[in-house]
Amino acid sequence: MENPTITAYAPGRINIIGEHTDYNNGFVLPASIDKKAVVQLKKNGKDSTICHFVAKNVDEIFEFDLNEFEPIGGGWENYIMGVVAELQALGGQITGFDCELEGDVPIGSGMSSSAALECSLAVGLNELFDLGFEKWQLIKAAQMAEHHFVGIECGIMDQFASVMGKKNQVMLLDCKSLEFEYFPLDLEDYELLLLNTNVSHALASSEYNTRKRECEKGVEIAQQKYLEVTSLRDLTVEMLSEVIGEMPEKVASRCRHIVTENDRVQAATKALVAKDFARLGELIYESHNSLQVDYEVSCKELDFLVEYTKDKDYILGGRMMGGGFGGCTINIIQKTKVNDFIQLAAAVYQKEFNKDLTPHSVSLENGAGVL
Ligand code: GLA
Repeated sequence: MENPTITAYAPGRINIIGEHTDYNNGFVLPASIDKKAVVQLKKNGKDSTICHFVAKNVDEIFEFDLNEFEPIGGGWENYIMGVVAELQALGGQITGFDCELEGDVPIGSGMSSSAALECSLAVGLNELFDLGFEKWQLIKAAQMAEHHFVGIECGIMDQFASVMGKKNQVMLLDCKSLEFEYFPLDLEDYELLLLNTNVSHALASSEYNTRKRECEKGVEIAQQKYLEVTSLRDLTVEMLSEVIGEMPEKVASRCRHIVTENDRVQAATKALVAKDFARLGELIYESHNSLQVDYEVSCKELDFLVEYTKDKDYILGGRMMGGGFGGCTINIIQKTKVNDFIQLAAAVYQKEFNKDLTPHSVSLENGAGVL
């Protein structure tokens, strides 16, 4: 075909455990899910420099010129311009194109609708213009789009999971070496249930970068005793105990979260393999507590939902998922109890906050691709 239309897609992600560890070179345990962003791309002329977008979900259009574009406002436009800019920076030869985008990853839910959008476009443009980039380059480009055009200095977890995910598998990713391993997620009588607080994470971007700075401060202080430490990933609990007294209180708490969370990711992976779901649940509760108290990225709605599960013996664990300040909790719940629990939780949540609770059952699906 002369001028084919390319359809590419990239999913959102869940994360079993390992929150805010990625930009500290630590460990995460995410998986790609059955909700995704889809782009349809077509070249619009070999001399054209115009990129034209139709965002079907929000019924908006946007256009920019490849010769001159820069971040604007705070919307979806920055994600797509960012991806184009990063692929160009890698040497990708891109000419004008038309793009229709849509998706069903709930926005602001902590399921990473933004990474889904970035990765679907990166994968699609790679195919459309025959750029020949490898998956890890597309992952990096999507992450850098967020740094340079959106202003969030995110880690690599979301984009990695969106591109590398595999059906029914979670991945243990070492964010330092980018080595990873798949593990089947078979929870037997249990399943994952996400509960969306419908609180949009407005604070997330500024606080996110602040947390990153606080972690860097922690590294600086640790280096005074341990020269070899280049990120919080290099600190063990024992090493941290030797230097924590030198740290300002907030920095100390942030470091405690990261160092203990890295250990929890390892322990959770072992529990998953051993099918010790009770232990996995405990670790998930501990993760929430650490995110709430030490890292301070939770919010009252997330805390309420996690607390509400604790006296239910059919729920093994629950915690906030993603960047925080809103979005979803992720819970391990007995399959037969899901419907009853959703009804109960939605009613108490409505009563407490006068807000709807949106449940999502998710399945794990393959990562990004071209149709
Ligand atoms: C957001 C970021 C990720 C990660 C999580 C928290 O989703 O995009 O890189 O840091 O928050 O774990």
